[in-house]
Amino acid sequence: MATDQARANLRVERLRTIRAESLLGGGQERIDRQHERGKLTARERLDLLLDPGSFVELDAFVLHRAEEFGLDEQRVLGDGVVTGHGTIDGRLVFVFSQDFTVFGGSLSEAHAEKICKVMDLAMRVGAPIIGLNDSGGARIQEGVASLGGYADIFLRNTLASGVVPQISLILGPCAGGAVYSPAITDVTIMVEGTSYMFVTGPDVVRAVTHVDVDRERLGGAATHSEISGVAHLAAADEPAALDLARAILGYLPQNNLSDPPSRPTSDPMDRRDSLLDTIVPDEPTRAYDMKAVIAAVVDEGAFLELQPRWARNMIVGFARLGGRSVGIVAQQPMVLAGALDIDASDKAARFVRFCDAFNVPLVTFVDVPGFLPGLAQEHGGIIRHGAKLLYAYAEATVPKLTVITRKAYGGAYDVMSSKHIRGDVNLAWPTAEIAVMGVEGAVNVIFRDRIANAADPEAERALLVHEYEQRFAHPYVAAARGYVDDVIEPSETRPRLIRSLEMLSGKRQTNPGRKHGNIPL
Ligand code: HXC
Repeated sequence: MATDQARANLRVERLRTIRAESLLGGGQERIDRQHERGKLTARERLDLLLDPGSFVELDAFVLHRAEEFGLDEQRVLGDGVVTGHGTIDGRLVFVFSQDFTVFGGSLSEAHAEKICKVMDLAMRVGAPIIGLNDSGGARIQEGVASLGGYADIFLRNTLASGVVPQISLILGPCAGGAVYSPAITDVTIMVEGTSYMFVTGPDVVRAVTHVDVDRERLGGAATHSEISGVAHLAAADEPAALDLARAILGYLPQNNLSDPPSRPTSDPMDRRDSLLDTIVPDEPTRAYDMKAVIAAVVDEGAFLELQPRWARNMIVGFARLGGRSVGIVAQQPMVLAGALDIDASDKAARFVRFCDAFNVPLVTFVDVPGFLPGLAQEHGGIIRHGAKLLYAYAEATVPKLTVITRKAYGGAYDVMSSKHIRGDVNLAWPTAEIAVMGVEGAVNVIFRDRIANAADPEAERALLVHEYEQRFAHPYVAAARGYVDDVIEPSETRPRLIRSLEMLSGKRQTNPGRKHGNIPL
C-alpha cells in the first residue's frame, strides 16, 4: 500500500516537474530579454486577457518533430505556443499565444497543429478565437512543413469567418505570409513601438526597390493604423491592447447563430440631448463633429471606434442603444466634408459585413456630399470600391436604422443604407437635404442658360438658389414619397432609435439561396 502511495507520489512529482518546465518556455534568460524589450510573455498575456483562473491549457506537452528535423537537442515543451480556452467576462473563448522565447515564436508543424486544434474546437462549440501573435514566422528548420502549417491556419481562419468572431493581436514580429492569418480575422490590434507586420521586411525592400526604410515605418502600429488600414486599433502597450480585445468581444455574440449580449444601462431610454437640435450649422459647407452626435445618442456616450486614424471621413465602431449592441457607421463632415472615397468605402463595407455576419444591428448617420471627385479616385477604382459599400448594405439583413442629419446627395444617398436597399427605419432631421446634388451645383446645371442670359446673372443665380432651396433642400420631398419614414427633432434621435431597435428585434430576412454572391472585391 505504502509502495503504491510512493509510486503515485513519484508520478505526480514527475508531472509537476514537467509542468513547471513547460511554464518556463525558452528559459529565464529569454524571458528577461522579452521583458527588457517592454514585452510580456505568452502566459502573462493570457493572464491579462482572460478572467482570473479561467485558463485551461491544452497540448502543453507537445514537442516539435525533432527526429525528423534534426533538432533533438532543442525540444521545448509546448513548442512555442500556449493554447487552450478560458473566459472573458464569463464567456468562453479559445486562445493561442505565441511564445517568442521558444525559437522566436516561429511556427513549426506541431505549433501549427496546436493552433488548428483550438480553432477546430472553437468552431465545434461556437466560441470566439483570439490569437496573440509574436513570431519570427515559419520555423526555418522545418521548411515546407511550416508553410503547410500556415496554410492549415489560413483555411481555418477563412472557414471560421462569419461563424465565430476572430480577433488578432500583434505583439511582436508578424512577417511574411504569417500576416495573412490576422488579415483574414475580424479585428487586428497592434501595439505601438513593439509590433510590426509586413509581407517583405526592410532588407528585401532595400534590395528590390533601393528604398531605405525601418521596421516601424514599413509596418509599425502607426503605419497600419493610419496609412494602410490593416490594423483596426493601435494600443500604447500590451495591457491596453488586451483590454481592447476584451471590450470588442463585449459587443459581439459567441457565434453567428446567437445574438450579441445586451448590457443594462442607467442611461434613460428617453433621454433627449438638446445639443443635437443646434449641432448642424446653417451654412451647408460648415463642418461639425459627427462623433459629438454619436456620443449624444448612444448609451453613456460610450463609443468603441475602429480604425479611428484611417479614412477619417468615415466613422465606424460599436456602441449600445438601450443596452443593445449596435454597429455605427457615419460620415465625418470634418474630414473631406464626409465625402465617400476609396478607403472610406472599404472601411465601411467591411464593417457593415462584420456586423451583419454577427447579428449586430446597423445605425447609420448620413451627411454625405457624394463620392470624392478626382483623377486619383477614378484611377484608383472608386467605382469598384464604392460598389463594395453599396453591396454590403444591400445584402445586410440585420436591422438597419438610418438618420440623415444633413446632406444625402446623389449615389451616396442610395448607398448609405437608404430605404431602397432595405433600410428598415430611415429618419431625417429637419436639416436634411436629400437631392441629386447640392443646391449651387444643381442651379448651375439646370439654369445655366437662364443665368447667362439674365441682365444681372449673379442676382438671377441667387434668386434661383433661393427658390431651389425652398423647393428641394429639405427632407419633405423624400418624406412625401416615404423614402424617409419620419422627420424628427434631432434631440428625439436616441429614443426613436431605441424604440425602432425594439420593434425590429424579431426581424427575419433572408437573401436568395446561392453559393455566395460576387461582391466586387
Ligand atoms: C527558427 C527563429 C526564427 C525562425 C527567429 N528564430 N526566427 N528560429 N525559425 N523563423 C530564433 C532565433 O534563432 C533566436 O534563437 C530567437 O528565435 C530569437 O531571434 P532573434 O533574432 O535573436 O530576435 P530578434 O533580434 O528580436 O529578431 C527577431 C526577428 C529575427 C526579426 C524575427 O529573428 C528574424 O528575422 N527571424 C527570421 C524571420 C524570417 O525570415 N522568418 C521566415 C519568414 S517567411 P535563440 O536560440 O538565439 O534564442 C515566413 C513564411 C510564412 O514566415 C509563409 C506563410 C505562407
